[in-house]
Amino acid sequence: MLGVHKAVFPVAGIDTRFLPATKASPKEMLPVIDKPLIQYAVEEAIAAGITELIFVTGRGKRVIEDHFDKSYEVEHVLRARGNQKLVELVQSIKPPEVECVYVRQAEPLGLGHAVLCAEKLIDGEPFAIILADDLLTGQPPVLAQMVHIFSHYDSSVLAVEEFASHEASSHGVIDGRHWDERVINVSSIVEKPTPEAAPSSFGVAGRYVLMPSIFEHLRALVPAGNGEIQLTPAIHSMLKDEQVLAYEFVGKRYDCGTKLGYLQATVDFALRHAEVQDAFDAWLHDRLRSSHPSVGESGLSGGQAGPGIFPPH
Ligand code: G1P
Repeated sequence: MLGVHKAVFPVAGIDTRFLPATKASPKEMLPVIDKPLIQYAVEEAIAAGITELIFVTGRGKRVIEDHFDKSYEVEHVLRARGNQKLVELVQSIKPPEVECVYVRQAEPLGLGHAVLCAEKLIDGEPFAIILADDLLTGQPPVLAQMVHIFSHYDSSVLAVEEFASHEASSHGVIDGRHWDERVINVSSIVEKPTPEAAPSSFGVAGRYVLMPSIFEHLRALVPAGNGEIQLTPAIHSMLKDEQVLAYEFVGKRYDCGTKLGYLQATVDFALRHAEVQDAFDAWLHDRLRSSHPSVGESGLSGGQAGPGIFPPH
């Protein structure tokens, strides 16, 4: 049985949806409360047993390397102030047993191309891909759930969720047959179809555990008219030779590549953040009551005060 030790984080893309915030800083460094998106993604990978983090970066993304590197200056200042707790917090961003490796994608030629940039580093092993702007919550964390399915079936696994039909054109959409409640044997996959052309209502969330054979299929693809190589057609091509599974993960996806998803994540995470949850819950409740008098008396976070309006992780 093969283990999964490596994860690829494609972070070279230029973001236009969060301009001007992302003009000079990477979208992966946008914080949800006090942690950048890329750190949530890395924590999910580490919780799944990943020990080698491969970042496919580009120009203007060096701050991501700095984030996972040691900061002598910050640690020195915190120590001088006697704040050992914060020293430990900044040191814990990258545990010592985890290695970070960086490879550059010189041109923005698509997700498949970004993954191809990591081929040498993957060196023939199964590996994970994590798209950091999809922030996923779940217990166990979603990638750990997927690694479990991967090990059980010895097949590539795609995380999927059911989407509303008008959202088809922002997902890779699968077709296939349910094997059990959560596992689907994929028969085809298509990138961002129109709602009419979508083969099902199951779309890929930004998590993949793939066999290294994906690289043969990526290399064989003819680039699209704009020169891009996408991952989805390579997965479709894989289906000729081997089984690929889709897994309806247990948890919730926040599409932090959109302003709405980012706001939803911020609100839900604030309602669970030890430092701010009570004050934020009270403020939000008052705020909603002033604009929607029908909002009841119970708290919003689902704490002791009442059932809450937000679903659990
Ligand atoms: C990418 C993939 C798409 C997948 C999506 C998940 O698209 O190409 O198949 O469903 O991530 O977020 P992107 O959102 O990067 O355009």
